[in-house]
Amino acid sequence: MSNIIEVNNLVKRYKELVALDHFNLTIKEGEVFGLLGPNGSGKTTTINCILSLLSYDKGSIKVFGKDMKPDSYDLKRKIGVVPQNVAVFNELSVYENIDYFCGLYIKDAATRKQYVKDAIDFVELGEFTKFRPKKLSGGLLRRLNIACGIVHKPELIFFDEPTVAVDPQSRNKILEGIAELNKNGATIVYTSHYMEEVEQLCSRILIMDKGKSLASGTKEELKNIIKCTEKISVEVCDLTEDNLEEISGLAHAYETSYDDSILKVSFSGGRHNLVRVLDYLGDHDYSFGRIYSELPTLNDVFLEITGTELRDSV
Ligand SMILES: Nc1ncnc2c1ncn2[C@@H]1O[C@H](COP(=O)(O)OP(=O)(O)OP(=O)(O)O)[C@@H](O)[C@H]1O
Ligand SMILES: [Mg+2]
Repeated sequence: MSNIIEVNNLVKRYKELVALDHFNLTIKEGEVFGLLGPNGSGKTTTINCILSLLSYDKGSIKVFGKDMKPDSYDLKRKIGVVPQNVAVFNELSVYENIDYFCGLYIKDAATRKQYVKDAIDFVELGEFTKFRPKKLSGGLLRRLNIACGIVHKPELIFFDEPTVAVDPQSRNKILEGIAELNKNGATIVYTSHYMEEVEQLCSRILIMDKGKSLASGTKEELKNIIKCTEKISVEVCDLTEDNLEEISGLAHAYETSYDDSILKVSFSGGRHNLVRVLDYLGDHDYSFGRIYSELPTLNDVFLEITGTELRDSV
């Protein structure tokens, strides 16, 4: 599969601030690619550099194998952008907004009409075509923003945090819609600081922080680069320091904590870890309450690489 986007050693500064620091990114045709990073990590800056909306200080960017320039209309025709901040005209109706964005690229009147209809159907705004944006709820407004970005049937679509401040129902619709666009052939670039969304939607993920690419791969590949393979939590009262030391010494255990009667043990590899923890507690006459065994999440990947929680930083 060919590379649709290639970003090499990109450096972008806003005066003193280094927003992108020798940033690398490769996106292949057909992917749903997730850019995952906390607020201010450089996701929007990356997109704006790729789209040539921002100049940059160093590095190179190729889109569809070509250099992207502010006037590369042949490339821009193939690209759709759903910006982080809703960008629609308040004085135009839902229909007129979508039609306007379509008209930027689609000149044939019949095709344009059909494409506008397709976009309205796609985001299910059929009942609201005469509404002005101000009359729409947050979720509907996001859907209008999406319709405007995809109406010209682009091959490559950027979604910059499209589900922020959206109710759960609209959020699911948006995620399903993006998966459908991908099924119909579009390559997707999706930015978010919600790891659950990225895990659910994306075929490959790049984790970024402070303008740097930290790791990339499928979610399985990312989880394989970290030490943690299993986290076990057990509700149990009155464990002693000696108990904790012995539990820390269980095979494959590498981190143990005990707060508010919850024992947490992280394991690296090994099988039957849960059984061994419970056997230990049983052998020492402890009765226990709730028990969880969790696989690592992308938050654990982020935590191990950066030392901070992805969740904390949003
Ligand atoms: N126009 C600007 N001028 C100065 N600094 C900027 C500008 N735009 C962004 N920054 C800074 O650059 C860094 C990267 O910002 P960017 O908006 O790309 O991050 P982000 O990952 O998209 O964050 P968010 O999740 O909040 O959208 C941040 O520290 C931000 O404050
Ligand atoms: Mg952003």
